[in-house]
Amino acid sequence: MAGVLSPLETAAALLPALAANGAPVLLRGRGTPLDGGRRWLDGRPLLGPGKTYEGLLAGFTAGAVVAYIISAAAAAPLLAPLGAAAAMGALLGDMLGAFIKRRIGLPRGAPAPLLDQLDFYAGALLALHAAGATVDPITAALGAPLVVLLHRATNMAAYRLGLKNVPW
Ligand code: CTP
Ligand code: MG
Repeated sequence: MAGVLSPLETAAALLPALAANGAPVLLRGRGTPLDGGRRWLDGRPLLGPGKTYEGLLAGFTAGAVVAYIISAAAAAPLLAPLGAAAAMGALLGDMLGAFIKRRIGLPRGAPAPLLDQLDFYAGALLALHAAGATVDPITAALGAPLVVLLHRATNMAAYRLGLKNVPW
């Protein structure tokens, strides 16, 4: 399992990251901002009000639960910690994405094509690599358009369900 992951192992290790990225939407925009309202040197919000403690907790919990279920179903114990690592990486990647958006001057919730869909994916891949389970570059590249489509579809669904104010 450790070393280079097969495409199937990659999918199993990344599903918790998708769950972690999606779960905070259920908070419907409530929560305590991680940046405490602080601003960066440019006078703009450090992360903005869309990154909260509650979001991190909800995301990590969802990711860890999905990771545990997948590892149990696949009888592959290592998938539990790997999935949890991917979930944490996804949340950190999403925070870095928000930091970058604020530096460009985009307000919370403004669309940033590709960055919005791939910040958490890159974070998850890096976390897996750091945990000793590398996704080979070709599998990672082939997964990117899938993640973009999935992200678009789930955000559209969240918008229709009234969970999000914008469909991206
Ligand atoms: N969320 C949260 N805490 C996090 C991540 C997300 O509370 N760490 C919640 C916020 O309510 C956020 C929603 O989930 O608005 C959707 O997340 P995302 O689309 O990543 O945030 P955006 O609203 O687009 O904000 P940003 O521009 O800062 O990415
Ligand atoms: Mg985001």
